[in-house]
Amino acid sequence: MLKGKKIVLGITGGIAAYKSAELTREFVKRGADVKVIMTGNATEFIAPLTLQTLSGNPVYMDMFLPADKSEISHISLADEADILIIAPATANIIGKIASGLADDLLSTTVMATNAPVLICPAMNTNMYTNDIVKQNISKLASKNYFFIEPGHGELACGTEGPGRLPPLEDIVEEVESILTKSDLAGEKILITAGPTQEPFDPVRYITNYSSGKMGYALATMARRRGAEVTLISGPTSLPEPFGVKFLQVSSTIEMRNAVMNNMEDSTIIIKAAAVADFRPAAISDDKIKKGDGSLSVRLERNPDIISEVGKMKGDRILVGFAVETENLIENARGKMTEKNMDIIVANDVTQDGAGFRTDTNIVKILDRKGGVEEVPLLDKIEVAERILDRIKAMKDKGLKQKSEG
Ligand code: PMT
Repeated sequence: MLKGKKIVLGITGGIAAYKSAELTREFVKRGADVKVIMTGNATEFIAPLTLQTLSGNPVYMDMFLPADKSEISHISLADEADILIIAPATANIIGKIASGLADDLLSTTVMATNAPVLICPAMNTNMYTNDIVKQNISKLASKNYFFIEPGHGELACGTEGPGRLPPLEDIVEEVESILTKSDLAGEKILITAGPTQEPFDPVRYITNYSSGKMGYALATMARRRGAEVTLISGPTSLPEPFGVKFLQVSSTIEMRNAVMNNMEDSTIIIKAAAVADFRPAAISDDKIKKGDGSLSVRLERNPDIISEVGKMKGDRILVGFAVETENLIENARGKMTEKNMDIIVANDVTQDGAGFRTDTNIVKILDRKGGVEEVPLLDKIEVAERILDRIKAMKDKGLKQKSEG
């Protein structure tokens, strides 16, 4: 989603300046055009040539180059930016911006831009917790400058506490979110993702192939679009998405309880999890021995979470998923009606690139009025965007009908 975006990355003089090289790479990998501005102190920590090589653009440092050497001014950098990011940002640059000082290329560009500015503080803990720095941050936050909290841990200066540059993937995610329209602001979205696991002894369980990718993509995109997101996830190997309330569960009963305890506040519920319909009737305390013969495990029914939610959903929009291997639309529609969903997303797992574990999906989005939207092969994050568009349209229509009625 950063493809074609113009990013101006300001680097100031802190030890974390070396991480800005990797950050530049991450933005370039996603298709952004990155122009780097370095302060004089930043060049003490990392060579401009590194940033020039990684960004594929000249690195800007001086305000007053002779006209023939300066292809671009601070005004053009300020004008062309879709976003300006300062990472790492020292107490000094934060203080300068808060005081309205513009005495070098970076502070001047910040002052001159209308683009959103994301500041990523990284400094010694005592400096970060200093009252003056805190006041400067509050002042800038109140003037719509974006901040991302520094990470906690051991710092280069030997102290321990807040002050580390946040993980780069969190910075990238924050940039994605700032550059995405916040049309789901005010919505509280509860999402389930991943498989459930049903143990029958201490070392074995029954599960399915869900990787969680579809549900995590929905959580990420919903958060980018301004929603408050709670993600209830079965076991997966994916990192926790940035900025969402994350609840880890394992079995279907745990997932059901987490959904029931968290649905009260929600305005939208999306059930992308692949839930085990059955669980072993008994869990052995000890590992079951192989023995000579065959082994039977008696299964009993798990609760049907979405049916339970469907009965008590009120005004909430309820979205389910369906995995089908035959009669895709007919079967999915049947589930939608039977379980009182508003939308069902049907994936035909017989198609290459659709369904479990893949980074892509091919789906049909069905609604109660007979609407069918065919979503071709796309990355799961793009499929998530289409599903959220559909939900948003349904919400807007509902609001319009309410105001007209
Ligand atoms: O996780 P990935 O690897 O990215 O794969 C994505 C996915 C294929 C898992 C996902 O897109 C998907 O289709 N999830 C639902 C799979 C499924 O369990 O389908 P179902 O037809 O069995 O269930 C229908 C709906 O009822 C689902 O919304 C499911 O969450 C819900 N359900 C099912 C059983 C149950 N006991 N309780 C439920 O709430």
